[in-house]
Amino acid sequence: MLVFAHRGASGYAPENTLAAMDKAIELGAKAIELDVHCVEGELVVFHDRRLEGKSTGHGLIHLSTQADLTQMTVGGQPIPSLWDVLARINTIAQGHCTVNIELKGVGCVAPFVAMYPKVRDELGFSTQQLLISSFNHLYLAQIKQQLPQAVIAPLLGGIPTDLAKVVSDLHAYSLHLDVAFINQAIVDDAHQRGAKVYVYTVDNAEDINTLKAIGVDGIFSNYPDKAMAAAALPVS
Ligand code: G3P
Ligand code: MG
Repeated sequence: MLVFAHRGASGYAPENTLAAMDKAIELGAKAIELDVHCVEGELVVFHDRRLEGKSTGHGLIHLSTQADLTQMTVGGQPIPSLWDVLARINTIAQGHCTVNIELKGVGCVAPFVAMYPKVRDELGFSTQQLLISSFNHLYLAQIKQQLPQAVIAPLLGGIPTDLAKVVSDLHAYSLHLDVAFINQAIVDDAHQRGAKVYVYTVDNAEDINTLKAIGVDGIFSNYPDKAMAAAALPVS
């Protein structure tokens, strides 16, 4: 079972910061999930659509500026660019980490499409090491159209009425489902369609055991070390 460090090792360090990525790799994570918004055409790693709450800033992130962002912190850490985070992960993990880039914000597609070939050519990520997810399936369709080789993962907040359409429309590699809605039938359905099933957000060992028992391929956890230890245990 693949364990993604959710927003980096966000149980141990401020989420979506370089410190959270460093911690995830230190703990042995083989996969990391992070969230992306667009600010003045540049992709930045941050979860919420609003800055207050998680950062020292205020207002909608897509209406802020790069200059504004340099003044803000998250748990004392800077808000990093996607490029800097990917460069850091691949340097520290020496090419052995998959990254799930979750596109959340306004205007993410064009900058992502422009950045993608450079991430592979200049940073050395393989196509399979870059898993692109979003709740915004239109984003994913637009990306797949422009980057046919990109590995695409629709995020689902619930169970769709037509899973076949979701998988085939987007040529999905994996489906990212909320732990609140997961069940055996949808795991089997996804697998029959050739898609893996990754479930968010799971920190509880009993949940991990249950998900393993129904054939879930991977999970997102804020405590990747504990999740990896639980995932390695035999199914009870
Ligand atoms: O990508 C899995 C999970 O991160 C989706 O929800 O809100 O934590 O980004 P959220
Ligand atoms: Mg996310």
